[in-house]
Amino acid sequence: MDKIRIQGGKILNGNVEVSGAKNAALPILMATLLTDQECILGRVPDLQDIRTTIKVLNHLGTETTSDFSAHTLKLRAPEVKCFEAPYDLVRTMRASVLVLGPLLARYGKAKVSLPGGCAIGARPINYHLLGLERLGAKIELEGGYVIASAQKLRGNRVAFEFPSVTATENLMMAAVLAEGETLLENCAKEPEIVDLARMLRSMGAQIEGEGTELITIQGKKSLHGCNYQIVGDRIEASTYLAAGFLTGGNVRVDGVDPETIEAVLGKFEEAGATIIREAHSVGLRSNGRPKATNITTLPFPGFPTDMQAQFMTVMAMAEGASLITETIFENRFMHVSELVRLGADITIRGHSAMVHGQKTLKGAPLMATDLRASASLVLGGLCAQGETWVSRVYHLDRGYENMESKLQKLGAVIERVPSTERS
Ligand code: EPZ
Repeated sequence: MDKIRIQGGKILNGNVEVSGAKNAALPILMATLLTDQECILGRVPDLQDIRTTIKVLNHLGTETTSDFSAHTLKLRAPEVKCFEAPYDLVRTMRASVLVLGPLLARYGKAKVSLPGGCAIGARPINYHLLGLERLGAKIELEGGYVIASAQKLRGNRVAFEFPSVTATENLMMAAVLAEGETLLENCAKEPEIVDLARMLRSMGAQIEGEGTELITIQGKKSLHGCNYQIVGDRIEASTYLAAGFLTGGNVRVDGVDPETIEAVLGKFEEAGATIIREAHSVGLRSNGRPKATNITTLPFPGFPTDMQAQFMTVMAMAEGASLITETIFENRFMHVSELVRLGADITIRGHSAMVHGQKTLKGAPLMATDLRASASLVLGGLCAQGETWVSRVYHLDRGYENMESKLQKLGAVIERVPSTERS
């Protein structure tokens, strides 16, 4: 398994282009199952989760042609031959449950392994299944699989108990081919939902209200192909801004709309950074050591849980004490014990962590546990004195394209070391 070696203490300056958003690309790739015509996607990030999604789609019968050097992907599902997303693929990427909506919508059947939990929580899919039943699907659980069937999905009113991102996406993809009108209430409002709606509309779907808690969909008989450019990754962008902030530098990220990360930008400003907002880029200028700032993660437009770990690393270096509260997932503090190995002073109390900022952190060997935690450890290595090794970086590769080369471009001393010994 590869490791990443970092020589900390370098000030990061410069600009970096973000890749396409992982959490927009995943549902968008699944949505290509809704038509038998060709879909051409641009700005597809070259990530492990994207490659896994392509494997799932190929398994179902989708023909794909990828050119990751140009970040384009062509997909066509003329005739889906298999309706099962198997355990060995779903367990590596829980977002595989997003095949449920499109397969039920187009073929009236789907068999998907229950994803099981992951490092950050149990992550049930009950909101997905309850919603699909509201559209007329029969849902059975057998042998660790969800077996779903429907003569023809019928539009209905679906109110989510919680604004779940992928449950909203699954129901959007189910409703676009259902008979009649579907009202989705208490929807997630994340920018990735908006991007999926725009892509579905480019396929001929009739959708209104994306980005608000009420999405209205008029079902169509069929959808056509599309040529669609995926939105920039707001979490990747925020991660590089955090890297600039905690090393005391000036960093600009290109290809992101500042509106999609206002909650993060506001907290960077509260912590003393200067933020420069442009139409499709954001700049951060450090003004000395960050100041302690409290955050509470919330559904969009609140502070994103996917930036909680990275922001904690910034606060580990800040002047003063910060309270970080995680309200979305039940176990998203696994980066804490690794940051403490760098000398961070962090105490967990239930869903909150109290961070007493330190003037300096010292490099150490660290182990990544999940995608965003691994990003927070890399950030820790960038600002710690001396050398830091991060192992199990396959977690990082799920969501960050070429992170080392993007950070090198900003002045970081960082390299990937393929590990020869089995670690
Ligand atoms: C999406 O996960 C993202 N993944 C996550 O990003 C992100 O952290 C999360 O939304 C929150 O923003 C993708 O988009 C592929 P939820 P999702 O359903 O949809 C509970 C990353 O790092 N819940 O909004 O699975 C759930 O347990 C990943 O890129 C149910 O109880 O998140 C959680 O506590 C990590 N039942 C809360 O809701 C359900 O049926 C929010 O989950 C569904 C969710």
